[in-house]
Amino acid sequence: MPSEPQVEIFGSPQELFAAAAKKFCNAGSSAIQDHGRFTVALSGGSTPRGLHQELATHFSSQLQWDKVFFFWGDERHVPPDSSDSNYRMAKETLLSKLPIPPDNIFRVPAELPDARQAAAKYEQTIQKFFRLEPDSFPRFDFILLGMGPDGHTASLFPGTAALQEKDHLVVANWVEKLNAFRITFTYPVLNHAACVMFLVSGDEKAEMVRRALKDPAANLPCQKVRPVDGELLWYLDKGAALRL
Ligand code: 6PG
Repeated sequence: MPSEPQVEIFGSPQELFAAAAKKFCNAGSSAIQDHGRFTVALSGGSTPRGLHQELATHFSSQLQWDKVFFFWGDERHVPPDSSDSNYRMAKETLLSKLPIPPDNIFRVPAELPDARQAAAKYEQTIQKFFRLEPDSFPRFDFILLGMGPDGHTASLFPGTAALQEKDHLVVANWVEKLNAFRITFTYPVLNHAACVMFLVSGDEKAEMVRRALKDPAANLPCQKVRPVDGELLWYLDKGAALRL
């Protein structure tokens, strides 16, 4: 039975990021104790920077980083050194600041000219890492997500084909309004996770957060993230929660 969203509201962005870092590390310690590793899918955009900074500073000694494995829930169709790259942002703000073995980092090969090929290769990487049987889905221990101003999450944008994908783990999704491909996890992967955390900050998101959490008829991409057997967390600061 999909879990109901667990909403946590914090007084400021700093308190939000500290609480998210604490939850990340608690989930990591439990996963490592339970099955020897912590598999994580990071999010893009700008909000995660605050969480990354907390993890890389106040929480840097709270996890056995050599047992943490990093993936991305989505990526722009750009090279890893592009200023638009989600991998580059995570590398600069988190991965380069902690003792994480390079072999524990699985970035999307988004430099490939063909976005579909990049998605297919990333899907194979995940299938190999999780030793998946055909037609099965990985269970990530922790998936971090943001929410865009249009209610998108990962690169699951309103009105795009990826919203309908039920079989693939990763797809190249054409986003007309960006005039670009994005590479993104699909809902089956997101909804197989043990824990999904939406991390949302700022009063500019308040109305969309209200619709996402209070208006089932809003039909927003982020509303379709409902882990079948896992935690669904919405971590908000006071600004983002203003309309709740
Ligand atoms: C991306 C993200 C995207 C992001 C939202 C929120 O690649 O941009 O995966 O889904 O999480 O757009 O972005 P902000 O945190 O910058 O508001």
